[in-house]
Amino acid sequence: MKFPNKLKYKIHSRVENKALRTLGLQSNLIDFSSNDYLGFAKSETIFDGAHQFLVDENLKINGATGSRLLSGDHWLYDVVEKEIAEFHQSEAALIFNSGYDANLGFFSSVPQRGDVIIYDEFIHASIRDGIQLSNAKAYKFKHNDVDDLKPLLKRHSELVSESDNEIYVVTESVFSMDGDMPDLVTMSQIIKYHNAFFVVDEAHAIGVFGEKGCGEVQRLGIENLVFARIITFGKGLGCHGAAILGSQELKQYLVNFARSFVYTTGLAPHALATIKMAYNELVILNKSEESQQQKLQENISFFKSEIRRLQLQKVFIESNSAIHCCLVPGIIKPKKIANQLHHKGYDVRAILSPTVSVGEERLRFCLHAYNSKKEITEVLENLRVFMNN
Ligand SMILES: Cc1ncc(COP(=O)(O)O)c(C=O)c1O
Repeated sequence: MKFPNKLKYKIHSRVENKALRTLGLQSNLIDFSSNDYLGFAKSETIFDGAHQFLVDENLKINGATGSRLLSGDHWLYDVVEKEIAEFHQSEAALIFNSGYDANLGFFSSVPQRGDVIIYDEFIHASIRDGIQLSNAKAYKFKHNDVDDLKPLLKRHSELVSESDNEIYVVTESVFSMDGDMPDLVTMSQIIKYHNAFFVVDEAHAIGVFGEKGCGEVQRLGIENLVFARIITFGKGLGCHGAAILGSQELKQYLVNFARSFVYTTGLAPHALATIKMAYNELVILNKSEESQQQKLQENISFFKSEIRRLQLQKVFIESNSAIHCCLVPGIIKPKKIANQLHHKGYDVRAILSPTVSVGEERLRFCLHAYNSKKEITEVLENLRVFMNN
């Protein structure tokens, strides 16, 4: 079969740059790479609970059968959206098929022509793609730098004043490729001062931060200063899907205009039942002596203390989240070290350009409630040896 030459060249250039991506099956290595921070993806309680719920409700259905605006809007959507909204202290929640879809739908439909989007330079690809599809103008500010955001916001708020045009500022509460976190409180205050709309992607904060894992926005008590929160279920909740939290008016708008919501088949009832049970688990586990969230937090503290003991602070990006990155610029070296760690039994991934900028390549360590202290010590001791070779 003929294959377009332009595409051949692009693949070839990835091969030449030793940056070709390939698919690989899940490994049985010690997990320092998945986003399953609390171990919910493998939870039998959640799996069995979802199954039992479907059987009890006689929901023997394999698929949603259509877009939610046509035949796909199962009653379970309403139940789960209400529960999620209540859990996250939001007026409303709207479920999307994935976080990618949620960000694409929000940013392509909410900011209008004449509006301005101001975004952190390290923002996730799904937000960037949404911005690309939008008719609004977009400007970036330096990563987590409120001093860079301030003048940008001031300038644009003066430009849009006395018009119907709006400003949207977007960041992540935990950055997916750095693990670091912005000063959401200060940001929310200056955004409010300039009458702009604040949007926070909480993908990597759900299950990790806040009471029962409700996220950073709620932990900081700034729900009312945030226009929309994007939460995802494929990471700390171990299942699949996402939701946008906001007002009923925003929900109504997205149902009408977010194309990644309108023109796609909805999630099947079993996906919704799994989300429901994952939230149940967050609540139930939090009542136990030592919750998964607590175990994760202990592992994060221990990982950080081991970094200090092994004097690796200089190569690690400062982080309090479940994501910790060791900067290893280049392509060969991070890949080589990731391979060496694999041979020692650890699943640690090299993150290369174009996911991060050239020169910012890194090894990303994702921590979990189920990692043992011994695993943490050993993976870092091995890392130190390989870094020095
Ligand atoms: C910050 C952020 N937002 C959104 C997404 C997309 O979420 P999902 O995996 O549910 O599509 C991701 C996942 O890669 C992410 O890291």
